[in-house]
Amino acid sequence: MDSILVQGGGPLNGQIPIAGAKNACLTLMPATLLSEEPLTLTNAPRLSDIKTMTELLRSLGSEVATMQDGKTLAMSCHGEINTRAEYDIVRKMRASNLVLGPLLAREGVAEVSLPGGCAIGARPMDIHTDGLTLMGADIELRDGYLHAKAQGGRLKGKGAVIGFPFASVGATENIMMAATLAKGTTVINNAAREPEIVDLADCLRKMGAQIDGDGTSTITIQGVDRLGGATHPVVTDRIELGTYMLAPAFCGGEVECLGGRMDLLTSFCEKLDEAGIDVTETDKGLKVKRRTDEIKAINITTEPFPGFPTDLQAQMMAVLCTANGTSVLEEKIFENRFMHAPELVRMGANIDVAGGTATVTGVNKLKGAPVMATDLRASISLILAGLAAEGETKVSRVYHLDRGYEKVVRKLQAVGAQIERISE
Ligand code: UD1
Repeated sequence: MDSILVQGGGPLNGQIPIAGAKNACLTLMPATLLSEEPLTLTNAPRLSDIKTMTELLRSLGSEVATMQDGKTLAMSCHGEINTRAEYDIVRKMRASNLVLGPLLAREGVAEVSLPGGCAIGARPMDIHTDGLTLMGADIELRDGYLHAKAQGGRLKGKGAVIGFPFASVGATENIMMAATLAKGTTVINNAAREPEIVDLADCLRKMGAQIDGDGTSTITIQGVDRLGGATHPVVTDRIELGTYMLAPAFCGGEVECLGGRMDLLTSFCEKLDEAGIDVTETDKGLKVKRRTDEIKAINITTEPFPGFPTDLQAQMMAVLCTANGTSVLEEKIFENRFMHAPELVRMGANIDVAGGTATVTGVNKLKGAPVMATDLRASISLILAGLAAEGETKVSRVYHLDRGYEKVVRKLQAVGAQIERISE
């Protein structure tokens, strides 16, 4: 298994290109199931999660080809398709559940394995299934699979006003895709507002869908009889962007994140400002630099968009380990998302975790140590910590990183980081 070796210390200077968003790409890909015509995605990130979604879509009968540039996915789903998403693939990645809505919309039936829990929490699917039930689907859980069938063979939007108890990203995406081909108009209240949802709606509109209100809490989808093909660029990855913005904040220096946009990370940028980190818009992206040598302690509460993203909480915690004062981080989205804290403590951090709250008292310096990555965002937070620490840090179990950060070693080396991947 591979590990990553980091020698901490120096400032980081230069440019880092930001890839297309993993989470947007993972919801755009299943949209191919909604049409018999080709769907081409450009600016797709090169990640193992994208390979898993490719494998899943192929198992359902879709053609998926990665073009020579590695960033263009050409997909086509004509002819007969298989409506069963097998546990062997679904268990690898929770986002596999995003085929449920499209399969049900296209074929009127779907069998999708329940993904099970993951390192950061239980992650049920009740909001997805309650919404689809309101659209006229009968859904039951048998043998670990959700068996879904649209009454009369087609989902109904007519009269379906779905009020989500929580603005779930995945449920908004699943229902939105399902509703594009439903009979009548579906309204989602308390919908999630993430940029990845706006990106999905943009792509679906290019395919001929009638969607209004994406980016707000109420999305209205008027069902159509068929969708066509489209070519669509995947939106910038705001989580990769936020992660690399924290690198110069933590280590010193100045880094320009190419393709970065402030509107993708408004509340995150406000928090950086409060911590004493300057973010400026350039014609190529965002430039980030500490105002002084000191990072100020700040309090963070994770929330659905436009609040502070849970997917940047681990990385921010790492940075706050050397802030001046005490920071309080509240995790409100997932119940078990502080697994990076004990690893940071092994590097000399002072962190107290009580339920969903972590209290971080800044120390002068972190010290390099062997640490273990437990999930995707935890892995990168440990790499950031290693870059700012004194001495050498070895991060094991880096396969998590390959799920969400393309060319992480090369991108960080290009701004002067001493980092390498080693195979053992
Ligand atoms: C997506 C992102 C993930 C991000 C998360 C929150 C993808 C592929 N993944 O995950 O990176 O961390 O949004 O921004 O886009 N919940 C229920 N019942 C449901 C659905 C969700 O109780 O039916 C709960 C979850 O357990 C969790 C919370 O709602 O506590 C948020 O989940 P959700 O917004 O659905 O996240 P995902 O779409 O799974």
